Amino acid sequence: MDIAVIGSNMVDLIAYIDRMPAEGETLEAPDFHMGCGGKGANQAVAAARLGSDVLMVTRVGTDIFADNTVANFEKNGIDTRYVMRTEGRSGVAPIFVDAESHNSILIIKGANAQLSPADVDNAAGDIIQCKLIVLQLEVPLETVYAAIRFGKEHNIPVLLNPAPAQPDLVLSEVKDCEYFMPNESELSLLTGMPVDTIDDVRNAATTLLNAGMKNVIVTLGSRGVLWMADGIDELLPAHTVKARDTTGAGDAFIGCFSHYLVKTGDIRESIAKANRYAADSITKLGTQTSYATATEFAQL
Ligand code: RIB
Repeated sequence: MDIAVIGSNMVDLIAYIDRMPAEGETLEAPDFHMGCGGKGANQAVAAARLGSDVLMVTRVGTDIFADNTVANFEKNGIDTRYVMRTEGRSGVAPIFVDAESHNSILIIKGANAQLSPADVDNAAGDIIQCKLIVLQLEVPLETVYAAIRFGKEHNIPVLLNPAPAQPDLVLSEVKDCEYFMPNESELSLLTGMPVDTIDDVRNAATTLLNAGMKNVIVTLGSRGVLWMADGIDELLPAHTVKARDTTGAGDAFIGCFSHYLVKTGDIRESIAKANRYAADSITKLGTQTSYATATEFAQL
């Protein structure tokens, strides 16, 4: 097994809109798409489509969405032995994408809110076989912290994508992550520092390195990706593409980075590949529907 993703899954309900309705207004939207999403699931699917063996530790509900989510993991070749059921609703995410491809996302966590440290313990025998643990913040923080402790105890590198931004995140609990990968706004919220210029981003990332993190990799949209580590300060440029829907691009980046990192151990190369993969994803509509397979990616 290559990668354990311990995290969320959602059903994405994407409305493509001309504009947000005003209060009390009913407005027709040009299009709608329903698909599988959730940051954890998206990252797992991206890595699996590229060829990684992925173990998913997550919770679905007992509603009409649950079976479809499990079937989607299976279709993508993901190990679903630890996709557990919680009585009640699955996670859902109403998403609004405007004509400029800007998105606004709501998440209703449902069963994701019940993913517990005990669930991590329950999957321990299989997580231990993995070369990388990948985490995000759509499940309880105590579960994220437990997974980080597990990684440290068993010498498995941990990648934390601190998304969505959580003001309650305790830095001392996450400092043992080998790879800390926020976007610019998450970095700003976590550090309380500005990220207007690249130097601002550098300064904010440096505070995380000083807190004990090994690699801080900040995704900056059209400004590229900044990688900072001991003796390393590199800004990798973004790819210019015509964006149609940026939903899930950050997850495409993390999933692709994880895949190449496990396969090659080369961080710079993994960032470069992830940059290209995420750029390709925004040229297509939907979340997971925009993620290329290994064959498609090779043809780009
Ligand atoms: O990062 C995009 C994802 O955020 C969407 O798939 C949505 O489900 C939310 O989790």
